[in-house]
Amino acid sequence: MAPEKCDNAPQNLRRVAVCPGSYDPVTLGHVDVISRAADLFDQVIVVVLTNPDKKGLFSPQERVDLLNGSLDSIRGVVVEHRDHGLLADFCQEHRASAIVKGLRGEQDYRYEVPMAHTNWHLSGVETVFVQSKAEYGHVSSSLIKDVARHGGDVSRWVPATVATALADKFS
Ligand code: PNS
Repeated sequence: MAPEKCDNAPQNLRRVAVCPGSYDPVTLGHVDVISRAADLFDQVIVVVLTNPDKKGLFSPQERVDLLNGSLDSIRGVVVEHRDHGLLADFCQEHRASAIVKGLRGEQDYRYEVPMAHTNWHLSGVETVFVQSKAEYGHVSSSLIKDVARHGGDVSRWVPATVATALADKFS
């Protein structure tokens, strides 16, 4: 049974999108998706959430700081952290009309579609998928941490402040 039609964003209000994720840490692939979301919506709320399946390297506050440093030139973007609760509830609280996610390929699609259906059934919020740029198709926070942990150069895949923060963590 379909939920009531999503009515989070009346026409006379600004269109708000939410870009959720672990962001441990933010990559240039994330920055690209967020900047394209900012072209489509009036405001983008980037929210750092806890994924219980992932062991974190950076604290939530460090992730927020790295995101703020990486996104400060993009109009209409704010960064928040939420350590509990459903993403669907967060979207309703912020009157968001959409969740925006990047898709790098088939694996992301299989991971994201069940979450998109679930969030829609919970709150009526739509999920909008943005196709990742080809150059970021293989870029993930996990892979970058692994390369950095072993002393590899990750500067082409992450903002400069993130490359420095990774080097500090593993020094
Ligand atoms: O970057 P990630 O780790 O792939 O992001 C996953 C995340 C944090 C967006 C997802 O785990 C999430 O939405 N968590 C919040 C709790 C929630 O709403 N769970 C139900 C998801 S359908």
